[in-house]
Amino acid sequence: MISLLWLTIGIVSALTANDVLNKTSYIIAMTSDNNNYVYYIVKSVVNGIETNTLYQTSIQNEGKYFIELAQGVGNELYYSVAHHSIFYTKCDSICSLYSFDSNMKEYQVTKDIDISLPVVIKEHLYFISPIFFGMTVQDSLDLQNKLVNRKQTSHHVFTQTPFGEGSSYITTNDDGTPQYKHLISSTITVDENGKINIGKYTDISNEVGNVISYDISDDETIIVFEGKSTAPASDKKNYLKSSIYTISVGSDQATCISCNYPGNQIEPKATKTGKYIIFMRTTNIIEKNPAKYFVLYDLEDGSYKADVTLNEFTTEKYLISKHNNEETISIFVINNRREALAIRKAIYSFELKTWNIEEVIVEGAVEMMAEVPCHDESSCLFITQSFQYQPSEIYYCDESMKLTKLTKLNDYTSYNLQKPILINPMGSLNDRIQSLLYLPSNNEKAPILLVVHDEEEGTVIDGFNKIMNPYVYTNEGYAVIMINSHVSKGFGERMRIKGSNDINIIIEDIKAVINELEKYPVDTSKIAVVGVFGASKIVTALLDAKLPIVLAAVHAPILSIRSQYYTDAKYTLEYTFEGADYDNSYWYNHNDAMKNVASYSVPTLISYGDLDFVVDKSQPISLFQALQRRGIKSRLLRFPYSTNVLTKNEDIKVFYEQYLRWFNENMKN
Ligand SMILES: *[C@@H]1O[C@H](CO)[C@@H](O)[C@H](O)[C@H]1NC(C)=O
Repeated sequence: MISLLWLTIGIVSALTANDVLNKTSYIIAMTSDNNNYVYYIVKSVVNGIETNTLYQTSIQNEGKYFIELAQGVGNELYYSVAHHSIFYTKCDSICSLYSFDSNMKEYQVTKDIDISLPVVIKEHLYFISPIFFGMTVQDSLDLQNKLVNRKQTSHHVFTQTPFGEGSSYITTNDDGTPQYKHLISSTITVDENGKINIGKYTDISNEVGNVISYDISDDETIIVFEGKSTAPASDKKNYLKSSIYTISVGSDQATCISCNYPGNQIEPKATKTGKYIIFMRTTNIIEKNPAKYFVLYDLEDGSYKADVTLNEFTTEKYLISKHNNEETISIFVINNRREALAIRKAIYSFELKTWNIEEVIVEGAVEMMAEVPCHDESSCLFITQSFQYQPSEIYYCDESMKLTKLTKLNDYTSYNLQKPILINPMGSLNDRIQSLLYLPSNNEKAPILLVVHDEEEGTVIDGFNKIMNPYVYTNEGYAVIMINSHVSKGFGERMRIKGSNDINIIIEDIKAVINELEKYPVDTSKIAVVGVFGASKIVTALLDAKLPIVLAAVHAPILSIRSQYYTDAKYTLEYTFEGADYDNSYWYNHNDAMKNVASYSVPTLISYGDLDFVVDKSQPISLFQALQRRGIKSRLLRFPYSTNVLTKNEDIKVFYEQYLRWFNENMKN
């Protein structure tokens, strides 16, 4: 009786690409007023058009009431405690700053300059904007306008390797002068209606290269920022090196506090009175997936107090607590990896000279955090947390670490999204490999989509996935297995053999996971290898069918790492292989999938974006040609207006359609 009842009410609704793209609301920004309110921007599709809406809700009403403050906003938010107001951007060709006056009427704060990362303190506005190298802000804006108006005849001239942002090259003048992200300040005055008026813009990071992030102490005395060097690739010592700079509020003279410190220093934050600065350092400047160390710097005596890695996993983002005195320093660290805890609270005691670590939350993926004082004056948090089976919502996390859900943007409970099965076989180098298996509900022996990667994040954390949502495929009768092999967060240096990465280590990991699949109701004679995120090198390495794979589908593959080396300098393989291919050709040859082209036999779907500056588009096109020449079934899917990562809903829709079509044509007979 009970099961019958369950069957009647548990009407199973299956997740489709349309649900993920058109019916899901995503939180894309969140901030706290440092008191009771949380402000957040939600991206959702309204009448077929993506719209960002700014909302406010509070701890008191447990999210039962929320207020819509503005529509059509950009992606950035800042709450100014000094002015008790929320600031946000609205963007057309540039993003301008907006806010509300004392009658809660929206007004435009800036109109002539592109704004990101705004911070509004009592008498100053700070933000980051692209400025032509060596020019004043005003001259740079004039030139920028001239170039924008040129439109159809637009071109870029480069005099040194441009610093790709992973998507597009930076703008240059006709003589090759590039734009860099600079920290700009302006004094501000407030009129009788509470509106902020902006003075002249001053570039306060003129000499420093690209400003990536910054923070201002609560007492508004000290600004601390990360400046990334713009030295050319031939200057190995400084190339892409990030350092930490300080500057007094109101001044335009920056001082480097970490230029002689080892490694690369990033994401600085100042404590309440600016007495201490915390930053992370990585162990090497071009290393993309390093362990990160927290460094505590005493600004008064210029000493480094602590330099530790707080966990065995790679840290994503952290917050420094502003609500206790400076005898201890507390930081909250996001630590997304499925078997790891999502947030750690680390407290440094000056007396004991040690960090004490508390585990905070045990499930889900934390995407954003904002601090808010607890009743007892310590730090509580607003977090956005998502699960595989539930897009992210905002929670209030109180002093006892109890979570109260404040938003209900999406109700995914009607979908039949079963939790994945955790599979942890022993992989290469005596490490356990973590993977998640999603089974279709039809209980038949399902064909398998094996999602692999060779870089960075890994294929999966316990968070909701928009581009490669496994439930869209289980809905179509596939089993999906997602692997976090070596090179995922947490493995770090262990991947390296004799100083260099070896792709065979990842192949061993994948083999170990495939062996485990025999234990589940899946059809191991039908395995398609799928590479969507950070899988450029590994999928091509599997096309000679060394593993039992009958089909492949891959986004932005690299046929030859040797030719890929001479593309966007930021993403070179220099670190991975300790030098250019002429310095260390053994590893390039060892890992170059192109040497196996004559043995390729796996039918492959290849997709790529024409505006991809990370994986040169010659690579997917060459792979396609190589397969065609050998008469191997292959298909090329080109996204003319996409960068490396698909971001537009129209593109992602086609991606799901074409990938599913490829799997159905080749695996369902
Ligand atoms: C989402 O909605 C738009 C407009 O209604 C439609 O054109 C598009 O095909 C939908 N996307 C998907 C994935 O179905």
